[in-house]
Amino acid sequence: MENVTNVMEYEAIAREKLPKMVYDYYASGAEDLWTLQENRRAFSTILFQPRILVDVSKIDISTTILGHKISMPIMVAPTAMHKMAHPEGLTLSLWGTCSVEEVASTGPGIRFFQLQVFKDRNIVVQLVRRAEKAGFRAIALTVDTPRLGRREADIKNRFALPPNLTLKSFEGLGLGTIGRTNGSGLASYIADQVDPSLNWKDVEWLQTITKLPILVKGVLTAEDTRLAVQAGVAGIIVSNHGARQLDYVPATIMALEEVMKAAEGRVPVFLDGGIRRGTDVFKALALGASGVFIGRPVVFALAADGETGVRKVLQMLRDEFELTMALSGCRSIKEITRAHITTPWDSP
Ligand code: FNR
Repeated sequence: MENVTNVMEYEAIAREKLPKMVYDYYASGAEDLWTLQENRRAFSTILFQPRILVDVSKIDISTTILGHKISMPIMVAPTAMHKMAHPEGLTLSLWGTCSVEEVASTGPGIRFFQLQVFKDRNIVVQLVRRAEKAGFRAIALTVDTPRLGRREADIKNRFALPPNLTLKSFEGLGLGTIGRTNGSGLASYIADQVDPSLNWKDVEWLQTITKLPILVKGVLTAEDTRLAVQAGVAGIIVSNHGARQLDYVPATIMALEEVMKAAEGRVPVFLDGGIRRGTDVFKALALGASGVFIGRPVVFALAADGETGVRKVLQMLRDEFELTMALSGCRSIKEITRAHITTPWDSP
């Protein structure tokens, strides 16, 4: 484990350790896995235009998001069911196997609560109240999951939550568990419980029941960015759900600039999908993102080496990002500009 030198190396270790059903659930994407590969490939098409002979003896990678100071623009995305990876579990998805309160009490740090909207709106109100009470600072409303994407590995494995685990946020709400079915148990569960009629009016409703800022997670187009700004959201997360929903949507890093232009600086824009290197973080910031989230690297590190692995993932990304800044001639997040990169869509 000491020899791990980049975040991608944890995946092979996790694959050896985890039952096939669990590894496949974490790793895979929708249908042909085109977007899954594209989320990575797209970063490799963006090149640096580094500046030299800048005094980079001091570099500050801290930043502010939604009014909160954070030590680096890299955050952990909500990913479901961590206890299948490791008995301690970690950060919070709505589909968490640790409760809202357990996650809230794990120490310092800014926490967002990821939400999907259930057919029964009372459940949504109860979940929001619990998140508020537990000190979560924002709600990330996932808007790309009216149904679950077709993840063929889960269908083949007949994915179900292992019977020793429960979805802790749902306890006492009469929502049952993700049981075994003829295909993906998660797809059936979502079809039963999550409301496919969710629309912009519900986003407005959500803002009336809470003072917490709401970020919409899953925006990929200029049109939806404008609607999100109109609906009064506090921020946008450009995301394709780690390529697990609609296959053949563009890589998020390809969609980012269109979203940035449509947002016109009125709300902060974040990105997730395929971030595996500090250079990826820099590229996203150069295209205008206020910060990024990482999904699978955290889950694989958790499976491979528990809390130590997750800490190391965050440390490696921090070190790589800081080095990228030094080698590009940037001393602060503010100094990272569009001129520090070139993309295939730049005009000559
Ligand atoms: C996810 N993601 C996700 N998103 C969400 O809003 N609610 C959820 O419960 C989950 N669960 C989940 C489980 C697993 C195993 C994965 C891999 C992903 C999507 C996640 O928040 C994020 O958008 C992507 O994971 C980012 O892409 P990378 O970093 O995994 O490439």
